[in-house]
Amino acid sequence: MSEKNEILLKVNKVYQPPQRVLEKALITKEEFDEMYKRSIENPEDFWADIAEKELHWFKKWDKVFEWNYPKYQWFIGGKLNITYNCLDRHVENGRRNKLAYIWVDEDGNEKKYTYGELLDLVNKIANGLKELGVKKGDRVVIYMPLVVEQLASMLACARIGAIHSVVYAGFSSNALRMRIEDAKAKVVITSTWTKRRGKKIDLKSVVDEAVDGLNFVENIVVLQREGDEFELEEKEIDFNEWIKDKSTHCEPEIMDAEDPLFILYTSGSTGKPKGVLHTTGGYNLYTHVTTKYVFDIHEDDIFWCTADPGWITGHSYMVYGPLSVGTTSVIAEGAPDHPDPGRWWSIVEKYKVNIFYTAPTAVRLFMKYGEEWPKKYDLSSLRILGSVGEPINPEAWIWYYENIGRGQCSIVDTWWQTETGGHMITTVPAYPQKPGKAGKPFFGIEADVVDKEGKPVEPNKVGYLVIKKPWPSALRTCWGEPERFEKYWSEIGKYYFAGDMATKDEDGYIMILGRADDVINVSGHRIGTAEVESALVSHPAVAEAAVIGKPHEIKGESIKAFVILKQGYEPSESLAKDIKMHVRHELGALAVPDEIEFVEKLPKTRSGKIMRRVLKAKELGMPLGDTSTLED
Ligand code: PRX
Repeated sequence: MSEKNEILLKVNKVYQPPQRVLEKALITKEEFDEMYKRSIENPEDFWADIAEKELHWFKKWDKVFEWNYPKYQWFIGGKLNITYNCLDRHVENGRRNKLAYIWVDEDGNEKKYTYGELLDLVNKIANGLKELGVKKGDRVVIYMPLVVEQLASMLACARIGAIHSVVYAGFSSNALRMRIEDAKAKVVITSTWTKRRGKKIDLKSVVDEAVDGLNFVENIVVLQREGDEFELEEKEIDFNEWIKDKSTHCEPEIMDAEDPLFILYTSGSTGKPKGVLHTTGGYNLYTHVTTKYVFDIHEDDIFWCTADPGWITGHSYMVYGPLSVGTTSVIAEGAPDHPDPGRWWSIVEKYKVNIFYTAPTAVRLFMKYGEEWPKKYDLSSLRILGSVGEPINPEAWIWYYENIGRGQCSIVDTWWQTETGGHMITTVPAYPQKPGKAGKPFFGIEADVVDKEGKPVEPNKVGYLVIKKPWPSALRTCWGEPERFEKYWSEIGKYYFAGDMATKDEDGYIMILGRADDVINVSGHRIGTAEVESALVSHPAVAEAAVIGKPHEIKGESIKAFVILKQGYEPSESLAKDIKMHVRHELGALAVPDEIEFVEKLPKTRSGKIMRRVLKAKELGMPLGDTSTLED
């Protein structure tokens, strides 16, 4: 049989969960189906039962759910603190000495934190924040590398009811500044540097530029790392000095279930990034329950989510979900393939990781390095493999299944978004899996694939992926822009629609095809075409620009920019390079176009809108589609 046919057979195969996964699974397929049915038929009772069983509440809610379209609330009147659920209750219930985090870096350094130690650290930071005058509802921006102090700073905010807004430490000073300004952050917590592929990346100077002249930022707390030597400027505080003599006791703020927990900025198809707001109760519950059942967490499991806390995956499945469940997480600063492409597998072997959660772009990177790398290590501890951030192509799915999972693991391909707070569509480990298809909606999620009017399309036909009703961890608003929140619930009937195309097969398995809007997914990171275009036109030589996403072997998509130069500028390689540097400075490395093509004209509608669809079709050699509105 040819290799192609062999792949085809594997792609179309339904993968039954391995026996060792089934034996351990918290819920069987039948139990999942039964629970799902109940969660849809009787959502309020379903969620109330789980909320009572899984979380600690200072005061029980008066009402489970209220929906005044488009606004909704969950656990109205309920009082809790997410850090109490993530830390105190474990410490009080015999997990004080259980490891919460095992941190490693590229140089083989390691630090371990028990639940007791983490609670102490969080409380010290919380007391430090209080001393700086940070109160419930104030915003704190965190711009740090992946170190435990980063995660503890998030928790410290939640401890006192401050709203954190974490900014990925790869974003530029301008991108950081926009977020600090939009959230009107009182305090920024940062660090001196991070290390990637052996190279130190300076973070502090990025923050210096970002906060320059922003008078409302009252303090900048700086975590100095080994070998640092520098003088603190006005407003700046040394992190370690700051917490040194602080008490390890800090009463958790009594939070209303609907009090804000965090803002996280994410790209849309137009304008500047939106500040997605999540609240306390529903988010705590939903991330807890998805962590427990989708990753099938058992008491002695070691869980490793390879994301960065700067993204929603890091928030939900590196911090709040795993801690609420009380599991031990590995966290790794640095690149997956440095000092060599065996780095990640050596970590799995060393710490006997059971559940491993990563993005398809990483899987494809390792495919390129070849199966000899994972083969060198003992990966037999692995039981569940997760995927997130972009569609996983069936070839990558199979490679992951065979070479990392050795045919002995279930794969959970979790579709969700910054806005959804937690997993929406996936199979649980005891469920049969289909390569490239995320699977079924999780508890309480009524997902469907519909046309523009909201009518379900036929099986296997392409449509828009919508969620019909609010779920506990759904975004509550966009910070300062309620109209952008409303848009999610009004584009397709009264359903939630955040921009993906999908198909649903006869068994109800949903396959995500990618974005319907002008959002590009580069290595699992959402980048708005509008953001890149506005960065491009802020270059002195650029008159107009349009960007598209192009399929890319490893990154999923890469960015291509079409640029019209201003009079007096000539296309050249050095100019293209300069423009790329400019985008890097404006937005950060992940938004830099791989290609820049200088053009004389851009396809536009008669009303002047750039038709990116036409550019893309032309670039990929595909039919141009309907061009009746094309100006010229
Ligand atoms: O297009 C979908 C894709 O990532 C988008 C959400 O991006 P973000 O808010 O940054 O959150 C990423 C991590 C949850 C979605 O609209 N996406 C995410 N997970 C998957 C996916 N596409 C296909 N399959 C997935 N498992």
